[in-house]
Amino acid sequence: MTELEIRPLTPVLGAEIHGVDLGSPMSDSTFGQIEKAFLDHMVLVFRGQDITPEQHLDFGRKFGEVYCPAMSAFPPDYPEIMLLDTTTPKGAGADRWHCDATFMTEPPMASILRPLRLPGEGGDTCFANMAAAYEALSPAMRSLLEGLEAEHDLSGQLRVSLDRGISPDDYETLLKRWPPVRHPVVRTHPGSGRKSLFLNGNTGSLLVGLSDAENDLLLPFLLDHVRAPEFQCRIRWELDCVAMWDNRCTQHCGVPDFDERRIMHRVTVAGDKPR
Ligand code: OGA
Ligand code: MN
Repeated sequence: MTELEIRPLTPVLGAEIHGVDLGSPMSDSTFGQIEKAFLDHMVLVFRGQDITPEQHLDFGRKFGEVYCPAMSAFPPDYPEIMLLDTTTPKGAGADRWHCDATFMTEPPMASILRPLRLPGEGGDTCFANMAAAYEALSPAMRSLLEGLEAEHDLSGQLRVSLDRGISPDDYETLLKRWPPVRHPVVRTHPGSGRKSLFLNGNTGSLLVGLSDAENDLLLPFLLDHVRAPEFQCRIRWELDCVAMWDNRCTQHCGVPDFDERRIMHRVTVAGDKPR
């Protein structure tokens, strides 16, 4: 059995995985080590991977069903891949701390990102461990949040998309297709049993059962809590780098510090209903 080399990025989050070629058939043992590292580190970075869109999809399919989420563009011939093509990242959405597609009743369990074109400098992606964020809250705050639900509403993000070029018809269709959904504010990871804070700064979350004034006070605190660097790691991309994150217990944020074209392919793996 070949042992993969696992180099943690920080004590709390992320690891570089060496000793595997994502484009070649993978033994069960190798995949098992990747699954375990994913559970332990939540964000995995694979460098030196020269893979095709097909191989990217095949790697994603090892974890579950893959799809391109609502309102996303996809590259020609690959409707299951999400295309991120940005030259003006500020305000696009990915530049805010978020997790992916929580407007779904069953949000994705993972996203796997691969660059096709990068700016000369900048365009890193930051990640935060939301289990560590939860554990850093006081017991009193944790017990307040336990049992609360948040409403995740896509309409704000859809308005941004409307400003950035989706058609009014698509806007109306998507608005109807994705009404607000409720998820627990504290979710338990089905694999590790660890609790994490499950909110999304991108699809306006509202704490159900709290008054407007209480939401105004508490939500900004909870959404900003993710910004503490001790919960985080940061990925510096190279063209042969593939990174995946556990969308159930992390948040991420694309650093909007570039003004050259940046193109990424994302493979999104289906998840289950948060509990
Ligand atoms: C994403 C995302 C950030 C980035 O792919 O879901 O938010 O840096 N990406 O591209
Ligand atoms: Mn994202």
